[in-house]
Amino acid sequence: MKPQTIGVIGAGLMGHGIAYLLAAAGHTVRIYDPSAEWRNSLQTRLKAALDLLEGDGALLSRISSHDALAPAMQDVSFVFEAAPEKLPLKQQLFAELESLTSPATILASNSSAIPSTRIGEKLKHRDRVIGTHFWNPPHLVQLVEVTQNEKTSMETVQKTMDLLRDAGRAPVHIKRDIPGFVGNRLQHAIKREAIALIAAGVCDADTIDEVVKTGFGARMAVLGPMEQSDLVGTDLTLDIQNVLLSDLNRDTEPTQYLKDLVANGKLGMRTGEGLRKWTPEAADAVRDRLRRSLADQAKARKR
Ligand SMILES: NC(=O)c1ccc[n+]([C@@H]2O[C@H](COP(=O)([O-])OP(=O)(O)OC[C@H]3O[C@@H](n4cnc5c(N)ncnc54)[C@H](O)[C@@H]3O)[C@@H](O)[C@H]2O)c1
Repeated sequence: MKPQTIGVIGAGLMGHGIAYLLAAAGHTVRIYDPSAEWRNSLQTRLKAALDLLEGDGALLSRISSHDALAPAMQDVSFVFEAAPEKLPLKQQLFAELESLTSPATILASNSSAIPSTRIGEKLKHRDRVIGTHFWNPPHLVQLVEVTQNEKTSMETVQKTMDLLRDAGRAPVHIKRDIPGFVGNRLQHAIKREAIALIAAGVCDADTIDEVVKTGFGARMAVLGPMEQSDLVGTDLTLDIQNVLLSDLNRDTEPTQYLKDLVANGKLGMRTGEGLRKWTPEAADAVRDRLRRSLADQAKARKR
């Protein structure tokens, strides 16, 4: 793909990773962030990503950071917005982007939960507004949920998928702008059942993690749940669902167990206890294991 000039909004956790992967694909990336603190730490964080992935140092020279929106967004073909998860802020940014970019520029939001329909509702040219839900860390996790809203044109979907595929991502086309897109709906369907099992005393949180990591989770990276259903047969899947579904949790709000953890300050790794107990060393070991495993997978894909 011909190298392009691409704008990124927000130099935080997601923004710096998105900038990294686009620059690694040969594009010139301009990041806008009003915070001097985030801009000042950008190079260090990009360098850490480079070291982890053993990338080509030249890519760093293709990324620049800016304290003003207008010069950063001049003549860009795409904008990826990774600003804080606040609707009025994102709407304001997109309204400014409409006046600063050409109608052909694709405006993509990385929002985890806010529909891009809402983010782009004040714009005149809404066909070029799209959701691109990267997963954290975006330079290590391949999936990007490319979410089409009612107004997004197929041309916008296609161009976005092409750019991301060329940058080594695995974009999937989500045809409706629904809460949680697909990935988080699946994750939270599992979490709802898991927390309900713990609350009912069926097993503890360690056991849930063990069941997933040593069981179906271990094979999921090579065998998706739909492939697995076809492997065993849709008839067996139906038989199991006939027995199981009426017994699964169907709460439409979070369980009291989870609400109590939060109310009691048991917030997880950062407070030493959540669903499981954590020492700082154990929490660091998990973070390190995750980072290394994702980086090894990313490096293996490059080989
Ligand atoms: N963290 C995740 O795991 C994750 C995953 C997928 C999507 N997202 C989404 O990505 C977006 C960014 O999340 P994050 O985790 O990178 O947050 P973050 O807090 O790490 O980064 C946000 C950045 O936006 C900057 N910012 C603040 N005000 C701004 C403004 N007016 N204009 C431009 N930039 C501004 C901040 O200075 C900061 O650098 C959110 O919409 C979030 O929901 C996050």
